Amino acid sequence: MRELIDKAKVIALELKQAAEKVVTIKEVDDLRVQFMGREGCLTLLIKELKDLDSLAKREVGPVLNQIRVDATEIFRRLKEDIEKREAEAANMREKGFDVSAYQPKGRPDGTRHIYSKFIEDIEDIFMSMGFSIFDGPEVETDFYNFQALNIPQNHPARDMQDTFWFEKDKKLLRTHTSNVQIHAMQKYGVPIAGVCTGRVYRYEATDATHDCMFTQCEGLLVDKNVSISQLLGTVKKFLQRLFDSKKLKIRVRPGFFPFVEPGLEVDMSCVFCKDGCSVCKKTTWIELMGAGLVHPNVLRAVKVDPEVYSGFAFGVGIERLAMLRYGIDDIRLFHSGRVKFLQQF
Ligand code: PHE
Repeated sequence: MRELIDKAKVIALELKQAAEKVVTIKEVDDLRVQFMGREGCLTLLIKELKDLDSLAKREVGPVLNQIRVDATEIFRRLKEDIEKREAEAANMREKGFDVSAYQPKGRPDGTRHIYSKFIEDIEDIFMSMGFSIFDGPEVETDFYNFQALNIPQNHPARDMQDTFWFEKDKKLLRTHTSNVQIHAMQKYGVPIAGVCTGRVYRYEATDATHDCMFTQCEGLLVDKNVSISQLLGTVKKFLQRLFDSKKLKIRVRPGFFPFVEPGLEVDMSCVFCKDGCSVCKKTTWIELMGAGLVHPNVLRAVKVDPEVYSGFAFGVGIERLAMLRYGIDDIRLFHSGRVKFLQQF
């Protein structure tokens, strides 16, 4: 008699443990057969009751019955839980997933990258002056990056911009955004006024002020009777607004870029000091960008008559501008992915 009660308790315990592991309706059904089917261990145990005398029956009977009632309840609840969970999952799949329902704790919010914000500021300034926004490819052909810009094959000016070449198809990673001048004039014709901001690549060693990948902003305006004073006025207005300083001055020096004639180097007055500091290397001027009047050969490359049209172009490094505006001292920070750096903006 005791033996029967002990066996029943072991079966009850086994059932409880097994019930914790089931996940599908089929597993519940299998478990039910294993315990309460015709040959189930609990069924067989209950059958043994009839061999007991009536006194023992009265004692063991209620214990076994209770285990049977409990087991039935366990199976009912298991089925109910699984059906509910499956219905919820199906509902979620059908109606879409509520992303706000799960919020991992302690994970900081993301912010927009300083590039995106800064480039937008720059584009806003140029758009307010009537310039369009252009885009162009970073993987480029020799024609757009060099030849159409008056840099023929084997021209020594190619050494100014060490280039990453693709071995297979002789394409290259653009070394400047000036390629977009050509694409834009081919696509939209002249007159034209636009700026393009984008990544450029140079096969160079990196240090705090040089990176092999950086960002440039290119400006192009072609129309009848375009003059250097228009170029200088545009560049000055742009810099004054970007650095929020009406007092900001610019000066130009002769510079060489094959795609402009005359070519200019534009410097701006130091925004940090009046009589020399470490940023302007005690000169009160900061070297900033290349510029000039579009070379007639560039206009010819896109079938524009240089006797009728003229234009200006300029190119400036975005990181250099951002470093000056925000006082950043290492260009490599921009794409270092350092959260502490990025969170400041
Ligand atoms: N493309 C030149 C550079 O990368 C900059 C430039 C653009 C100069 C347009 C003149 C006119 O250095």
